Amino acid sequence: MAIFKKKPQSELSLSDIILPEHIGIIMDGNGRWAKKRGLPRSAGHTAGAQTFRKIARYCSDIGIKYLTVYAFSTENWRRPKEEIDALMRLFKDYLTEAIRDFKDDSIVLRFLGDRSAFSDDLLALMDENEDESKDREGMVLNIAMNYGGRAELIKAMREIAAEAVDGKISPDDINEEMISNHLYTKGQPDPDLIIRPSGENRTSNFLLWQSAYAEYVIMDVLWPDFKEKDLDAALIEYAKRNRRFGGV
Ligand code: IPE
Ligand code: IPE
Ligand code: MG
Repeated sequence: MAIFKKKPQSELSLSDIILPEHIGIIMDGNGRWAKKRGLPRSAGHTAGAQTFRKIARYCSDIGIKYLTVYAFSTENWRRPKEEIDALMRLFKDYLTEAIRDFKDDSIVLRFLGDRSAFSDDLLALMDENEDESKDREGMVLNIAMNYGGRAELIKAMREIAAEAVDGKISPDDINEEMISNHLYTKGQPDPDLIIRPSGENRTSNFLLWQSAYAEYVIMDVLWPDFKEKDLDAALIEYAKRNRRFGGV
């Protein structure tokens, strides 16, 4: 991995390294954070939403081009209704704020996932945010909501199969590029670095296709406690990795 200056690795700072173009974050650990404090899980999500605001802004400030945050998985519907309702309220609050307060922002907002499950008012906010921000030139912030890597691949396969049935393509035309073009991340580079706070060592169905060669950094900090310095530490860890992409 390219590191600009010859320095002992323990002394590296952000100015010494090449940043990843695309970072993914599995925003995990809200529930445990709340439990440790004797608070309801929803309080952990409220605190996690604040961390999200701060870290998204920081990524944009340091020049990250794409940030994808995992906010709600296709499996998270298994949680109690009360918790799901609290999460939906937080999405609405953030998206209302983004429309109202971020007029001069440079961040482009996009949503990854199956939208059919969301309420009409949340859908309207998602559409409005995407539309309002689409011509901006700053960081692309993908919020994965009702996102699952498997569901995304099923969607892609159905669309491609339909094109084959219609005679528009033949099975031999199917290649990596075609599949990538049927994913929610169409047109975007694959993530270089995926950060998972809270210490869990699994993908939990996040960006399955896109993460084929992503570097994973698992961190012990719970998401609501995650600070800018933790992101710096993940970036420095990433810069030390030797990405081979199957080569030598
Ligand atoms: C991540 O935190 C937020 C969502 C999945 C929506 P969790 O709620 O999963 O927190 P833990 O893993 O229970 O601590
Ligand atoms: C992954 O976290 C989903 C999000 C952070 C949105 P989970 O907490 O749902 O994952 P598991 O259940 O620990 O695998
Ligand atoms: Mg979790």
